[in-house]
Amino acid sequence: MTGGTPADPTAAGRPGQRVLAAFAERFGGEPDGRWWAPARVNLIGEHTDYNDGYVLPLALAHGVAAAARVADRPVLRVHSLQQQAPVELPLADIAPGAVRGWSAYVGGVAWALRAAGHDLPGLDVVVDGDVPAGAGLASSAALECAVALAWDDLAGLGLSREELVAAARRAENDVVGTPTGGMDQMASLHARAGHLAFLDMRSLAVEHVPFDPPAADLALLVIDSRAPHALVDGEYAERHRSCRRAAELLGVAALRDVPPDGLDEALAHLGRAPGGEVLRARVRHVVSENARVLDVVAALRSGADPRRIGPLLTASHASMRDDFTITVPEVDTAVGAALDAGAHGSRMTGGGFGGCVVALVDAARVADVVGAVEVAYAAAGYRAPAAFVATAGDGARRIS
Ligand code: GLA
Repeated sequence: MTGGTPADPTAAGRPGQRVLAAFAERFGGEPDGRWWAPARVNLIGEHTDYNDGYVLPLALAHGVAAAARVADRPVLRVHSLQQQAPVELPLADIAPGAVRGWSAYVGGVAWALRAAGHDLPGLDVVVDGDVPAGAGLASSAALECAVALAWDDLAGLGLSREELVAAARRAENDVVGTPTGGMDQMASLHARAGHLAFLDMRSLAVEHVPFDPPAADLALLVIDSRAPHALVDGEYAERHRSCRRAAELLGVAALRDVPPDGLDEALAHLGRAPGGEVLRARVRHVVSENARVLDVVAALRSGADPRRIGPLLTASHASMRDDFTITVPEVDTAVGAALDAGAHGSRMTGGGFGGCVVALVDAARVADVVGAVEVAYAAAGYRAPAAFVATAGDGARRIS
């Protein structure tokens, strides 16, 4: 169990502070400013975003800081404290397929902003993050959003949060080339402390739902399964394709358009298509998951005891395991052990095939639940898990 990460990203030893010294060392002098964008954890609503559905993430205290200064040439020079070598890219050379690796997330933002018609100066930038690596907490979206904010400010573009989301998402979809659904960038840019971001991924409307587990003597525990997730990209793209295919066969724009009371009819219709059984399972997940997000939002807004959302979280996990088939044994073990140790609800969060599990637990039981997961992991011979208690933080912003 790691100690709480302070909410202030510029606190001693945190990325917002570390980028200053690193900037002086790598580029000399001071940056024109510093920006911060948080990573996220999704409470519920998985693989619903690219189906025009609903999601309910919150911003973590972890994230990515960028220190940046306008350059005298139209070139991006970027150092990451998580990478060995710096990267230098003339802005005009950045295009889909032309940039690979981590710098595509940063360069991709420049490409997306230029593609939207904005004139950009070159940038000298240092980025640093403290998001647990490979945990599926959307560190890449945090990187995109921190850099998008820096460019917006330094080029005086005055972009709205919606425009920034669009640029960050295009960087990932078009330049990095992963067909992700936009939740992560929206979460990072729209989050509010003490709230969940209830996002309608069709209208892109944002509502902030108060979420304060400690006020109910609860904690939202995040457990990093530490499962190596090698399959992520290919499997994610395959789920995306199956959902599109199912929507096409059903004659709807997106699976969001299948209402819960139309599910049986939709499933019967798909039963006649080739590969129908798999498509039926995928549709069952997406339709039921959208309904669960709405149920969680309604329960939290009703002022009822937040423990009541627990069974919805656990049902979401079963749906991801049995219908969307995106969990792995480590993740299922962590969820099972957390529930056995008294969690009110638990589920995998994020894209799947590893990553993190969330568990809603009584504050007094946090250590017991973490201990139970550790014991179950040791018995199964898995790498020890890591865990922290999440607090809903603020969204991306300028920090100096
Ligand atoms: C990843 C993607 C998101 C979303 C989730 C699954 O995090 O980046 O867009 O699809 O998986 O909910």
